[in-house]
This record gives sequence, C-alpha cells and structure tokens, in this order.
Amino acid sequence: MSKRVSKAVFPVAGLGTRSLPATKAVAKEMLPVVDKPLIQYAVEEAVAAGIDTMIFVLGRNKNSIADHFDKSYELEKELEKSGKTELLDMLRSILPPHVTCVFVRQAEALGLGHAVHCAKAVVGDEPFAVILPDDLIEDGQRGCMKQMVDLFAEQQSSILGVERVDPKETHKYGIVEHSEIAPGVGRLQSIVEKPKPEVAPSNIAVVGRYILTGAIFEKIEKTGRGAGGEIQLTDAIAALMNDEPVLSYEFAGNRYDERQY
Ligand code: UTP
Repeated sequence: MSKRVSKAVFPVAGLGTRSLPATKAVAKEMLPVVDKPLIQYAVEEAVAAGIDTMIFVLGRNKNSIADHFDKSYELEKELEKSGKTELLDMLRSILPPHVTCVFVRQAEALGLGHAVHCAKAVVGDEPFAVILPDDLIEDGQRGCMKQMVDLFAEQQSSILGVERVDPKETHKYGIVEHSEIAPGVGRLQSIVEKPKPEVAPSNIAVVGRYILTGAIFEKIEKTGRGAGGEIQLTDAIAALMNDEPVLSYEFAGNRYDERQY
C-alpha cells in the first residue's frame, strides 16, 4: 500500500550564530520577513502540502516558537472586546484547526541529524518531511514541499530538495552527485557535507527540504560526529542510500537564505 506524508519535522534548535547579534535573544526562526516570522512561512508550506502534524524540535531560547502557534486567549479576548475582527481572524488563521503541533526538545545542539532523531518517537516508522525554516522558498504556484509530496506519492522514496549553487560556495552545503531519471529528478549516487570547491563532486546542493523514510532513524543512530563535530543528517543519508533509493529533486521556486531576506 502506498504511504503518504502527514508529518513534518522543523529542526529549530540550532544556535543561529551566523545571524548574531539578531539571534542573541530572539530565535532565528522568529525573525520577521515582511509581516510574518520565518517559521510561519515554513508551516504554511507544510499545510499547503497536505501535512497535518507539525513537529518542532526546540532548543533553549526557542519557546517563542511554541508561543507563536499557541492560542492566545487574552489577546483574542481583547481584540473581540474592541471589535477588531480582521485582526482576530488573522490571529486565528495562523494555524488551521485540523493541524496538530508537537514540541520536542534537543537538549544540546549536536547537529541536524541529531535534531531530526529527537522526533523519532513522534514520527514512528512513517515517511516524513523535514523543513528548515531558515531556507525560505517561495513559489507562486505549487509550494516546494507540495511538489516533493507529489513526487513521493509516485516514487515512495526519500527525496532531497536540491538547487544548483555557485561552484565557489559548495563548502556551505551538502553536495550531491546523481544520475538523472526524469527532468529535474535524479537518483543519488553520493552525498558529502560541505566539500571545498576543489573536491566537490558537483555544484548540486541540498537545501532545507527533505522527505525521508523511517529507515533514516537507524542510520542516524549509527552515525558518528562528522563535519564540524556534529551528527550530520548528510552522513545518515549517505548510509541510507546504500540500502534504498534516495532521489534528488530540483524544485521550482526561489530560495532565500539569511543573506538574502
Ligand atoms: P545550521 O547549520 O544553519 O545551524 O542548521 P544554525 O545553528 O541554525 O546556525 P549557525 O550555523 O549557528 O549560524 C540548519 C538547521 O538545523 C537546525 C537549525 O536550527 C537550522 O534550522 N539545527 C542545527 C538543530 O535543530 N539542531 C542542531 O544541533 C543543529
């Protein structure tokens, strides 16, 4: 029977050192872009993809993320009393009623792989999405995660969202090598975390969107510390690739990271 993606993990326990001093006391994911915090764009992208369970992996200083998605009784009462119905509707629409939020903790920032593993008990053995909110991806038509969920429905394999980057910038990304199986879709042959340009296998970079099968958890458990002394999701994906197909997908849309928004 084919499986569907109903859960998304948002690893938001990182220290955000590259965005200091803005992130000294404020979670990076709560920084506003136009009129909404980054994390809200990420959740909206997941909702648009048909995902209904949002799992946030929080660290210290990140409680504001949980507060943002909580019902704010006092504020709603005040807005009701003063007849500010438009604002009230906007507040209530932050999270559609069918969506459930679950909050788990990563006690120590040991890396993205470790953060994803913190969600294991909630995810179980199902395929799930991972969205890194600091990569903001906008697409006027079908959101990035929706495109990936649709591809998963056909392929039933793990999928990494990828983008071609400036070859001089490979040291900032996980970089893949793949063989194309359809336009924009490749089968992964290798993946390496933050290679220097002179040794990078390509300029095809993994950005902050993944769909992973439940098998990734066991691979993370066997993954030691890699680049930067962290437990890297990239290394666990490299191990997963030996057991089952992992696809790369060049999504339609524009990505903005902390240097651009
Ligand atoms: P980054 O590598 O961008 O790290 O993590 P960061 O901590 O946010 O930022 P810098 O490097 O210190 O500036 C990618 C994603 O993985 C999460 C981050 O919150 C971000 O969404 N992450 C990273 C964790 O949740 N836990 C970790 O231990 C590491």
